[in-house]
Amino acid sequence: MKCDRQTLPIATIHEENASLRTFTFEGKLDATPGQFIMLTVFSQGEKPFSILNADKTSFALTIKNVGPFTDRLFQMKSGDLVSVRGPYGRSFSNNLGRVLMVGGGFATPPLLFLAKRLRAAGVAYMATINGARTTSDLLYVHDFDELSDRSLIATDDGSLGHKGTSVDLMEAILSEERFDQIYISGPEKMMLAAVPVAKHHHLRFEVNLERYMKCGVGVCGSCVMDPLGLILCMEGPIIDAQTLDKLEEFGVSHRGKTGRIEPI
Ligand SMILES: Cc1cc2nc3c(=O)[nH]c(=O)nc-3n(C[C@H](O)[C@H](O)[C@H](O)COP(=O)(O)OP(=O)(O)OC[C@H]3O[C@@H](n4cnc5c(N)ncnc54)[C@H](O)[C@@H]3O)c2cc1C
Ligand code: FES
Repeated sequence: MKCDRQTLPIATIHEENASLRTFTFEGKLDATPGQFIMLTVFSQGEKPFSILNADKTSFALTIKNVGPFTDRLFQMKSGDLVSVRGPYGRSFSNNLGRVLMVGGGFATPPLLFLAKRLRAAGVAYMATINGARTTSDLLYVHDFDELSDRSLIATDDGSLGHKGTSVDLMEAILSEERFDQIYISGPEKMMLAAVPVAKHHHLRFEVNLERYMKCGVGVCGSCVMDPLGLILCMEGPIIDAQTLDKLEEFGVSHRGKTGRIEPI
């Protein structure tokens, strides 16, 4: 079992909005877009987080304050120590043709990481859709704008960009342009709506799934998805269309904290 653990100080903390912060760390993380790490905050245990960016000298995570662990993290300052192990999981494919990214809410960090890597690798054409409930919830607007050949924004309340969802914009752009690959990362309900649209256009796609993860390395079984018994922390979190088709739990149920299967 791989366990590349590093204990290191928080280098910088950037407030994205009232409930989301980006934490950077000076350390090498040999990660690819879509992978995640297990973060330990002393006295609060360990939780999984997607990697926003990683290069030879630093890496970053964008984290939403939702409960005891993240609340403790939000009380920490630059210089305070945390511990990280990973990276874990499968990453997005590396399609350098015409790609479309569809993101929703605070699930966009792996898409920004992917956009940077694909752009650096010479992607032919990249369109991005960034959706959120309202303007203040949108992440990385300028970064996506700079990296994309075409960048679109949707907000539920219409405060910026299209009034509606990322999936509305996905339907619109697919009726205008041709793509080779779609990358989707958002709340599961949003991805559930996006998948039939991608299928309708007979396009290759990948989704970024989340399940309760305790170990991150295939030991505890908490992230298992039925009926395949797929171990999401190792065989995901990035899942392709063919595999997704066999995961009857997608959009329906997941294992909660105790391992019991619950409706989503
Ligand atoms: C692969 C993966 C990538 C993730 N990436 C990010 C990210 O980039 N940014 C971010 O803010 N959050 C991310 N999360 C979710 C993050 O792990 C939870 O928000 C965090 O664990 C909450 O802990 P808490 O104690 O603050 O809240 P709690 O009160 O414990 O939980 C609040 C919510 O977080 C979920 N959660 C709690 N523990 C876990 C766990 N061990 N695994 C999965 N979900 C959990 C709960 O189901 C609940 O819905 C990711 C989760 C997974 C599985
Ligand atoms: S989180 Fe333990 S098996 Fe996946």
